[in-house]
Amino acid sequence: ARTAAVIPAAGRGVRLGPGAPKALRTLGGTPMLIHAVRAMADSRAVSLVVVVAPPEDAAEVRTLLDAHALPDRTEFVVVPGGETRQESVKLGLDVLPPGFDIVLVHDAARPLVPVDTVDAVVEAVRDGAPAVVPALPLADTVKQVEPAAVPGEPEPVVATPDRSLLRAVQTPQGFDRDTLVRAHETVTDNVTDDASMIEQLGLAVVTVPGHEEAFKVTRPLDLVLAEAVLARRRL
Ligand code: CTP
Ligand code: MG
Repeated sequence: ARTAAVIPAAGRGVRLGPGAPKALRTLGGTPMLIHAVRAMADSRAVSLVVVVAPPEDAAEVRTLLDAHALPDRTEFVVVPGGETRQESVKLGLDVLPPGFDIVLVHDAARPLVPVDTVDAVVEAVRDGAPAVVPALPLADTVKQVEPAAVPGEPEPVVATPDRSLLRAVQTPQGFDRDTLVRAHETVTDNVTDDASMIEQLGLAVVTVPGHEEAFKVTRPLDLVLAEAVLARRRL
């Protein structure tokens, strides 16, 4: 079974602050998106990468892919994205050719995921899991609250879920292609990851160990950390 990676990269990056779309912001002088594409293409399992670009920047993304050295054995396709992450992933799935039975969905905003994590996800799908997510234990205790009517006001705490049973999940998430396509055709709720759509179909999702370096660049401090991780790798 061949494996394709879909990279949703069409977000603005509102939480990162003003500037270029997040995927085009640079890390170590190279656009975040190129790091993410390389992280997928470095896996020997991956032979197609579909980049879902900010609609106004699709041509620039194509130019960037052609300008950077990427593995020859992998093909790269660019499509314009949508209003939500979910829509963007769907637009990527829509252009997958036949023959790719395993699909990875990987956030452009996780540029530094190690190839071993990518391979572990593919391996678990090959072993028969319809959906696989890299997961890490939480460092912080998590509280469920009653959201404040006015932002910034104190919020009543409702519950404290047992932290030992909670995991923070990352990408790439790996799927049996037909299952993921069906999930995207069926589930219309707003979701923040693809695996939760599989859960809503009542199908099994399993975890493999995630990696600290697969963290998502969301806020300005994450850029500082990403630059530091990259600098350490280049030593
Ligand atoms: N994404 C996308 N299309 C959208 C929204 C998000 O392809 N309409 C992608 C982002 O480009 C990112 C991934 O989904 O790679 C994870 O989303 P997130 O970290 O929330 O990125 P943004 O939505 O860009 O950031 P923010 O929510 O702060 O605006
Ligand atoms: Mg977002």
